[in-house]
Amino acid sequence: MSDLAAPHILALTAYEPGKPEDELKRELGIDDVVKLASNENPYGPSPKAIEAVSGDALELHRYPDPRGHDLRHALAAHHGVPAEQLCIGNGSNELIDLICRVFATRGEHVLFGHPSFPCYRIGSVAQELSFTAVALRDHLHWNVDDLLGAVTPETKLLFVSSPNNPTGSYIARDELVRLLRSLPERVLAVIDEAYVEYADAVDFVPATELRDTRDRLAVLRTFSKAYGLAGLRVGYVLGTSELITDLNRLRAPFNVSTPGQVAAKVALSDDAHLRASVEATIRDRGKLTEALEAAGLQVAPSQANFVLVNVQRPGRAVYEALLQKGVIVRAMPEPLESWIRVTVGKPEEIERFLHSLDRVLRDSRV
Ligand SMILES: Cc1ncc(COP(=O)(O)O)c(C=O)c1O
Repeated sequence: MSDLAAPHILALTAYEPGKPEDELKRELGIDDVVKLASNENPYGPSPKAIEAVSGDALELHRYPDPRGHDLRHALAAHHGVPAEQLCIGNGSNELIDLICRVFATRGEHVLFGHPSFPCYRIGSVAQELSFTAVALRDHLHWNVDDLLGAVTPETKLLFVSSPNNPTGSYIARDELVRLLRSLPERVLAVIDEAYVEYADAVDFVPATELRDTRDRLAVLRTFSKAYGLAGLRVGYVLGTSELITDLNRLRAPFNVSTPGQVAAKVALSDDAHLRASVEATIRDRGKLTEALEAAGLQVAPSQANFVLVNVQRPGRAVYEALLQKGVIVRAMPEPLESWIRVTVGKPEEIERFLHSLDRVLRDSRV
């Protein structure tokens, strides 16, 4: 083990991303690989966004706009808020890390769910913050009383992913309002809405509409999922102008590339494209869920663009066997060792996954 890295960093294991398609192609020597591992939008971004970054008008020899003026103003119009209440980031991931760095100091306490997005924990450990990973009920469902019960006098940050990665579960409106109103004033509540566009439950409400519940509220959004721009790395946070001013104190000056800013702004304006791909994914999420349930498997009800399915044997073995068939999904860490997470791909990709899974589950060695 290295004695170069700081001891608290050595306690971290690197985030394990979904296996890249090209890596598996190289390993298996095949061309025909389906990736359903990183909750990307299989339909891609708005063609207008692709066109906007394809020309040579971007002046790539220049640094990007350090304040992201055009994108922030487009987002401000989109949300009906002043541009001073928005900060853009190199994916929402950068902003999670930045929030931990800006709003908490060593020894302060952070709350997040378990299982949930691993980067809340990574951001906390990197800052030497203490944390409580609050177990979701049955590993799947948020419980507001459990979250409130875990608050300590040192708690400074709460991260809630709703809809949650990897469970697809969400906090319904009334409960979210209760959570936001009940947290002590000093706590910054961060509601990570990476999958918000896919939530269609009648009692789901975006936290952007609950900003009157508390001052210390930050809402995270991303262009990586429904907007189909994961490769360009653009996310943003919406909060009070005071909170954004504080984030800007530490934000790296040119954190979002020019193509990222330009494509995100154009993608935001193409509502028809967004709606068409989201509708297809919501429809196919239902079909995938039904097919898995018809095969006798338990599926967590999902409000996102992925489903979590209990394969009733080691998920890692199923993941490995699917890889051999050219299908990349995601194996889950504890407490979901018997579950795999599958992104809702295009219908033909879902077919291929279902067919491969059926063969894998019939194999008594798995
Ligand atoms: C809940 C959640 N938040 C944030 C992110 C980070 O997204 P990005 O950095 O691409 O904006 C992800 C990515 O998978 C996620 O699942």
